[in-house]
Amino acid sequence: MLNNIVLIGFMGSGKTTIGREVAKLCNSVLLDTDSIIETNYNMMISEFFVRLGEEEFRKAEILLCDWIKDNVNNAIISTGGGLPTRYDLRDIGSVFYLEAPLDELSQRAIKDGIKKRPMFEQFRIVDDLYKSRVPIYEDMADYTLNALDSTKQIAEKIYNYMRGY
Ligand code: S3P
Repeated sequence: MLNNIVLIGFMGSGKTTIGREVAKLCNSVLLDTDSIIETNYNMMISEFFVRLGEEEFRKAEILLCDWIKDNVNNAIISTGGGLPTRYDLRDIGSVFYLEAPLDELSQRAIKDGIKKRPMFEQFRIVDDLYKSRVPIYEDMADYTLNALDSTKQIAEKIYNYMRGY
């Protein structure tokens, strides 16, 4: 079993911010799947969706996860919100689900800039998307954490779980 820590959850749940904090605590590195894809393809996710489409984005995510599975251990992996619908992340490490109600996530995503998140631009479908994804996140999670707690609190909980406390 790989010893990676994998963070999953809906857009705006704080996967990257918490991942950074956990990486510091564990003296490890954060691999953020969205950022890696942006770097490798030299375009922002929003541009990727416009130029190549969602299906190509999903293929890029899957290829990246296969690579992580074969090559990465002891890292923190923060994932795009749609990844658990296409990939069983338990194959990569221990899965932590950052859970929060949709209104809070929407507010955060708006504050953060909706343009960065193509899936959030389609407001009508966000509600359905959230409802369809929650059971997938719940099924995949080894641990579920309240994403409304502070970043520090959540990161420490993850760190302690991994140390067996
Ligand atoms: C997506 C979430 C985004 C990004 C892409 C698609 C989704 O990541 O991967 O815009 O389908 O939920 P975040 O969850 O980090 O915003």
